[in-house]
Amino acid sequence: MKLPVIFAVTDADVLSDELFRGLQKIVSAERRCKAERFHRREDACRSLLSEALVRYTFFDAGLQCGGEFELTRNEFGKPEPVLSGFHFNISHSGTWVVCAADNEEIGIDVERIHKVDSGISQRFFSSIENKLLSDFKSPAQWLECFYKLWVLKESYIKAIGKGLHCPLNSFAVLPQNDGSVQLIRYNETLPQKYLKIYDIDPAYKCALCCSHQNFPREVKVVTVQEILCKLEPNRI
Ligand SMILES: CC(C)(COP(=O)(O)OP(=O)(O)OC[C@H]1O[C@@H](n2cnc3c(N)ncnc32)[C@H](O)[C@@H]1OP(=O)(O)O)[C@@H](O)C(=O)NCCC(=O)NCCS
Repeated sequence: MKLPVIFAVTDADVLSDELFRGLQKIVSAERRCKAERFHRREDACRSLLSEALVRYTFFDAGLQCGGEFELTRNEFGKPEPVLSGFHFNISHSGTWVVCAADNEEIGIDVERIHKVDSGISQRFFSSIENKLLSDFKSPAQWLECFYKLWVLKESYIKAIGKGLHCPLNSFAVLPQNDGSVQLIRYNETLPQKYLKIYDIDPAYKCALCCSHQNFPREVKVVTVQEILCKLEPNRI
């Protein structure tokens, strides 16, 4: 497998009973229990698919992916393989589950676009990002830019593994006209990373944060059937 890579599954929130049961069989007991605790079936579907897609990514990289495959979590909750040198990150929203992998730190975020209060950006984003947003007079363009910034920022804090323990206004992300993204770090301890937006669905925004600039050219969409087909024989 050529790294980095992004795999994605769509219609992740509406699985048939057969596919749901198939996924239950290939994930860990911990994930099965987690999925059972969700009240809404769509949350359970995304949760099962989240681990299944990680296992599929491991399988594709030629790594151990069956049985109780070993993951650990860093102090901020980021799941990491026990095996060093392989990094992954997962995100889910609405109908999508996405998983990115690389041999260096990586982060990914996908979000379904829905109406938000403009106060959120004032509260969480840096002043230069709020300045950028204030240039958009049409609500639709404002929302489009807001979600671009959101997924870019989330992908960064997920790549460095800190989640919201890293203040969202301690750095800024500025999408450029040529498709690149400028990262400004206000705290010198924050690492340099590289960011890219992927257009996977007009109703969503998705961003990747890598430790270098060799971004995957595309998002590889796989079906639940393909995942089951590859992973079921690896069950222990
Ligand atoms: C937990 C967090 C890392 C991502 O949360 P999120 O955007 O709601 O969720 P996503 O679907 O993108 O990511 C969830 C996955 O991130 C992974 N994850 C958990 N902690 C993580 C961390 N510290 N770093 C990186 N990844 C992490 C897990 O694999 C999780 O998947 P799982 O629950 O199926 O195991 C964190 O950034 C958060 O709580 N964000 C809240 C979103 C928000 O309010 N943002 C404000 C922007 S205006």
